[in-house]
Amino acid sequence: MSPTILVTGGAGFIGSHTCVALAAAGYAPLILDNLGNSDVRVLDRLARIIGTAPRFVEGDVRDRALLDRLFREEAISGVIHFAGLKAVGDSVADPITYYQNNVHGSFVLTEAMQAAGVRTLIFSSSATVYGDPDSSPIPESAALRPANPYGRSKLMVEDALRDLRRADPAWRIALLRYFNPVGAHESGLIGEHPQGKPNNLMPFVSQVAVGLRDKLSVHGGDYPTADGTGVRDYVHVMDLAEGHVAALRHAEKQPGLVTLNLGTGQGASVLDVVKAFERASGKTIAYEVGPRRPGDVPAYWGDPALAESLLGWRARRGLDQMCEDSWRWQQGNPTGYA
Ligand code: NAD
Ligand code: WQD
Repeated sequence: MSPTILVTGGAGFIGSHTCVALAAAGYAPLILDNLGNSDVRVLDRLARIIGTAPRFVEGDVRDRALLDRLFREEAISGVIHFAGLKAVGDSVADPITYYQNNVHGSFVLTEAMQAAGVRTLIFSSSATVYGDPDSSPIPESAALRPANPYGRSKLMVEDALRDLRRADPAWRIALLRYFNPVGAHESGLIGEHPQGKPNNLMPFVSQVAVGLRDKLSVHGGDYPTADGTGVRDYVHVMDLAEGHVAALRHAEKQPGLVTLNLGTGQGASVLDVVKAFERASGKTIAYEVGPRRPGDVPAYWGDPALAESLLGWRARRGLDQMCEDSWRWQQGNPTGYA
């Protein structure tokens, strides 16, 4: 029988793609999601990719009674914890909501896991815990100084999980620090569709390409980078999804806690992304260079060597494929799952 993995936030962008990778690897994902930032119609799409829809429970990760019931009734062998809020600007405006959801939610989950004797946990952390790094590529040992409440909520959970593992060595934990996840499943059936105006670059660019937005505003053209625009480590969401499966397998093999960057190890500028998207879509992406976005770091990318040596995982898909797959999803689903 396939081992059941509880996937909190599994209806969301990274979670839905990870369900595909889990199913391909012989696991049975069980999604718990409150649909606060996702659409239940993703399940039909997942059924078309996987062959059967993953089991789904609508509910909140902060609902301890619900978690206790799930752990009692289902033979859950491990948990991948995606559920959380991720908009940096909202976290500055409403920090307590972010700590409530991201930190308290993680505590309720780990308490329920402990009570149920399930001690395998893969946690969605973020490269945002590094803040403005001293240099790139960033190793996992770099200083941790997140610059906003969202990033601090991730670091708080990381710290708590490190303490938990020290207190109880039976835990098997992976803290995965994602760089900039983009792209979509190659089928074009699932992808990212942010509600309202996108904050992030790739969804904005693809909405310009499909005609939903007039032009991209490039946030700053005077950074000390090759073309003056910001540089990031974009990583294909399916590579990320496979990284979760690799981390799960590693945790199953040995107890302990690992902290791993999941990125490509390569930086791409805003204009590199624009050009790659133009190649992928055959469309011209209108853009205008505007002022820097407050709080933005000029350039960073990750060092993914540890994930490769520990998990045998590395990102295989390049920027062109990220744009091609985003475009296939965006073109086929201009308004998301609606
Ligand atoms: P997403 O918003 O698409 O997915 C998160 C899912 O969690 C959504 O489906 C949402 O409805 C659900 N959710 C939120 N709070 C919940 C709660 N209390 N109970 C149950 N469900 C809840 O975001 P994503 O991009 O897929 O991100 C997944 C995780 O990865 C998040 O923890 C995020 O912080 C982290 N992360 C994301 C990025 C990124 O750029 N996308 C980068 C680094 C880390
Ligand atoms: C990328 C580049 C922008 C939009 C964010 C979070 C981070 C992590 C990933 C969760 C930058 C530029 C963007 C636009 C632009 N999430 N840009 N015009 O800021 O690197 O990271 O998502 O953990 O915590 O902060 O990603 O996609 O917003 O920006 O020029 O309309 O694109 O300035 O250089 P970011 P992004």
